[in-house]
Amino acid sequence: MVSEEKKIRIAVLASGSGTNLEAIARAAESGEIPVEISLVLSDNPQAYALVRAEKHNIPTKCFLISDFPSREAFDKAIADELSAAGVELVVLAGYMKLVGGEILSRFKNRIMNIHPALLPSFPGTHGVRDALEYGVKVSGVTVHFVDEGLDTGPIILQEAVPVYDGDDEETLHQRIHQVEYRLYPLAIKLFAQGRLKVEGGRVRIIPAEDE
Ligand code: GAR
Repeated sequence: MVSEEKKIRIAVLASGSGTNLEAIARAAESGEIPVEISLVLSDNPQAYALVRAEKHNIPTKCFLISDFPSREAFDKAIADELSAAGVELVVLAGYMKLVGGEILSRFKNRIMNIHPALLPSFPGTHGVRDALEYGVKVSGVTVHFVDEGLDTGPIILQEAVPVYDGDDEETLHQRIHQVEYRLYPLAIKLFAQGRLKVEGGRVRIIPAEDE
């Protein structure tokens, strides 16, 4: 079923495999979420996310930090690209760089990230491994708005994922991925419907009119 809702324009930033991008692209194509992915942007020319984007006929851009004189210049170039594409929401999906000043200030409360742990526990680039090494019995998935900190922004959605005896990083990450593919499209849909309000560092989800 193709939705009648007005579509918003989003960009997905990805550094790696892009399986979350794949889930979002499929949800967009099926009309499950009212978005058009205007751009997939990467900092890594080898990212398989770029191949996935091309398969879905989504324009791609790659920005190498080594091509820029400074981190500020790199972030400004990305911010300019996102603005030029008319992007309303920036979606980080396995984007392994901190999002810098110019992007943050231009897209305040309009940048989302997904993290493979229950924040504020286990932030950073190895959330799955760190949770496993700590010995938690429950980990999970967090979708949050991005602020200047490392995985510190207002939390939009969270869901727990059990950790089983005998799990290794791969088996736990696979279980976490299955939740991510459901939670990220839902968070994007709530944003597109104008149902996420950031108030005092918290996100309030406005109930749907028919709820
Ligand atoms: C996802 O599990 C995401 O939560 C994680 O990277 C993976 C990307 O997978 N992100 C972070 O760890 C951010 N700190 P994908 O490229 O297959 O979507």
